[in-house]
Amino acid sequence: MSEPDWGRLTRAAVDRLTVEVYREAWRTRPEVRRIRLLGHEAVVKDYGRASNRFKHLLGAFLAMREAAALRRTDGIACVPRFYALPRPWILVMEHIEARPVTALSEDERQQALTPVFFGALARLIEQIHACGVAHGDLEKLDNILITPDGRPVIVDFAAAVIAGINPLAALILPQIKANDFRAVYKLKSLYAPHLLTDEERGRLHARSRAESIFRRARSCIRAPMKRWAEGPEDRGV
Ligand SMILES: Nc1ncnc2c1ncn2[C@@H]1O[C@H](COP(=O)(O)OP(=O)(O)O)[C@@H](O)[C@H]1O
Ligand SMILES: [Mg+2]
Repeated sequence: MSEPDWGRLTRAAVDRLTVEVYREAWRTRPEVRRIRLLGHEAVVKDYGRASNRFKHLLGAFLAMREAAALRRTDGIACVPRFYALPRPWILVMEHIEARPVTALSEDERQQALTPVFFGALARLIEQIHACGVAHGDLEKLDNILITPDGRPVIVDFAAAVIAGINPLAALILPQIKANDFRAVYKLKSLYAPHLLTDEERGRLHARSRAESIFRRARSCIRAPMKRWAEGPEDRGV
């Protein structure tokens, strides 16, 4: 069966082909859906559902950044493959059968979050880093998924820092990489504290000065842009 031409998707087609809505659009957050076309599944992340102004600026930027990260990590099995950008603010990617680790029940967590899982997660992060990409938002643990057979999957590269794209990235990449690993320690400390080593516990809250400055600078730029993008109606005016 030939692969659909994801680059020609329209929003009306996305509506028609939807199998599941993972996330409703909310303020500047994208809408995330699973669709099925000609027997193939894909995930559509659309930053343009909630606001017109947003989709033209920040949404397009975030979709482009995620697309760039997914292109770089192409070939890593537990990261979605990039399919297309049918509009600058709409990203289409591979659907991977997996659930966020945060959605597991207590029993499921005990079964699934084993030393083998954590080892595989750390190796997956290393593979992503070896492509010159740091995820940057793994501490939001619903970006870490688990397949039915217990393998880790990483999604949501909208905040990725990518080597060679801007000069700041080269400076900050090591810190963001360290932060990616802190997500593993955070996950362990929340759901499998008995697996956390003393060294990992020590690193859990150790944010470097450079990373703190970078994050503060980024949110100073982002906050006004987001307010602008959300538009007057969302600010209750
Ligand atoms: N490629 C994918 N395959 C399977 N599920 C996905 C995929 N991308 C996203 N999801 C699901 O959708 C949720 C939201 O997607 P995400 O990219 O994290 O959007 P947001 O920016 O709103 O956090 C994820 O937590 C995951 O459950
Ligand atoms: Mg997310």
